[in-house]
Amino acid sequence: MTTDFLSSELIAHKERLQTLGLSSLFEADAERFSAYSARCGDLLLDFSKNFLDDSSFSALLSLAHKADLKKQINAMFDGELINNTEERQVLHTALRAPMDAVPSGYGEQINQTKQKMFALADQLSDGKLMGSTGKPINTVVNIGVGGSDLGPNMAVDALSHFHTTDTQFLFVSNIDPVQISRVLKQCDRESTLFIICSKTFTTLETLANANAARAWFLEQGGEESEIKQHFLAVSTNLEAAAAFGIPEENLFPMWDWVGGRYSLWSAIGLSICLAVGRKGFQEFLDGGRDMDIHFQSTPYEKNLPVILGLLGLWYSDYFQSQTQALICYDQNLAQFADYLQQLDMESNGKTVTKNGNDTTYATGAILWGGVGTNTQHSFHQLIHQGSHFIPVDFLVAAQSNSPIANQQRDLFSNCLAQSQAMMNGRSEAELINEMRAQGKSESEAQFLAKHRKIAGNKPSNTIVYKQLTPFVLGQLIALYEHKIYTQSVLWDINAFDQWGVELGKQLSKTISSVMESPEKASKQDASTQGLINYYLNNQPL
Ligand code: F6P
Repeated sequence: MTTDFLSSELIAHKERLQTLGLSSLFEADAERFSAYSARCGDLLLDFSKNFLDDSSFSALLSLAHKADLKKQINAMFDGELINNTEERQVLHTALRAPMDAVPSGYGEQINQTKQKMFALADQLSDGKLMGSTGKPINTVVNIGVGGSDLGPNMAVDALSHFHTTDTQFLFVSNIDPVQISRVLKQCDRESTLFIICSKTFTTLETLANANAARAWFLEQGGEESEIKQHFLAVSTNLEAAAAFGIPEENLFPMWDWVGGRYSLWSAIGLSICLAVGRKGFQEFLDGGRDMDIHFQSTPYEKNLPVILGLLGLWYSDYFQSQTQALICYDQNLAQFADYLQQLDMESNGKTVTKNGNDTTYATGAILWGGVGTNTQHSFHQLIHQGSHFIPVDFLVAAQSNSPIANQQRDLFSNCLAQSQAMMNGRSEAELINEMRAQGKSESEAQFLAKHRKIAGNKPSNTIVYKQLTPFVLGQLIALYEHKIYTQSVLWDINAFDQWGVELGKQLSKTISSVMESPEKASKQDASTQGLINYYLNNQPL
């Protein structure tokens, strides 16, 4: 990394603060929690356990001023062509805005599609959505991949306490036939509704699975004429969906100004809307809108997405953190890290600036995570005593959606204990004293203390909310969307294209044709050819 991107002022702050240590920052300032926490409604971000004090925080904030972040935020909300490599607007925020705040005259089409989604959701929750033989629909299968799967799948699971129907929701994304086979075993063709979600309607996985679902439907005794009561499609490519056999009334449009990984607010989120009903889905949109207003109007020092964005950059560019963990102490958010992986890594996994220069600094972090407390018994050891520096975002609710005895208190306290342990660690001297008091010999105490000491000085954010509701989920997703956008502005990269995914798609087509007709095919590199040979030699006769 070159130093021209890095400010010498911030390098000096980093060195000073690391030497000082996180716990000293608390000892020096009794008001630290109120200075370094911020809210968006009931959503609270505690960012006090970070390497920040007044002067370093203001130096970080000045990066946002220098990048003219405010102008770039307005550019997104106003519908400028900020996705410059595809010459597209980026308007997922319009999907959660009131009609009068939607730019480019898109309000009417957004509203029409939303009303169509609501009407279907009403039918389902009233038990009036029937299959072709008159049986009520009791299973919805979403077929899609990437943004057409991860968001809906995560949100339907996260909002299980708010479902307005007993319908089971299943998801098929992988081209691995095992997944769809398992899902279809749970379906009855007379009461199953398939939603084919594909922005482009050209995605290999989705088309293969949609064809498999249709073939299964017919094998189970369904007629072609019955398909229209069991298959819906969501796409920008309405012709391709129609060619697949989806009648016009079963098509839900979306638009090229909604990126795939930002699309769960559109009809790609139809399964979410069917699960939580019109009221729940509107609350979800309202939560996203609430965060939009906060992002647009709150000064940077209290602006949640801006703070998270700056801290992410602080650690990846100045502390060489490389990775960022997201640990949700909320079982509802079991799939949140998987969802955010695409949102963040497909957006900011770039090394070319918007006008085509190579970046000379670290960009998008490797995002990973899981659900606490399970993660404590899995990878926290490496966070506490491993050689990597891993900043963590903790997410936790004050109230459980399913309270039992004191379990929520224990969940919450475990979350706080982890951030405290990361920050304070445990010194060798303290451990030696403790073991001496327990009667251990001096040499044993010295030896064990080396293994047991925890360095501490590991930063974390804690995001707390009252309870996970559709509104709060909307806020959380929009928070991370805008964090990612903030970082893309600071790094001067386009967060809204994904050219890196294309090469693999093209190559898989070529390799597949080699596997289909090896005699006609051009030779591959020795490794690929050797692996193809293994595959061919192991086919059933
Ligand atoms: O993985 C690449 C990608 O284009 C994602 O951005 C997108 O969410 C996914 O494929 C699915 O695309 P589609 O909705 O067009 O099938």
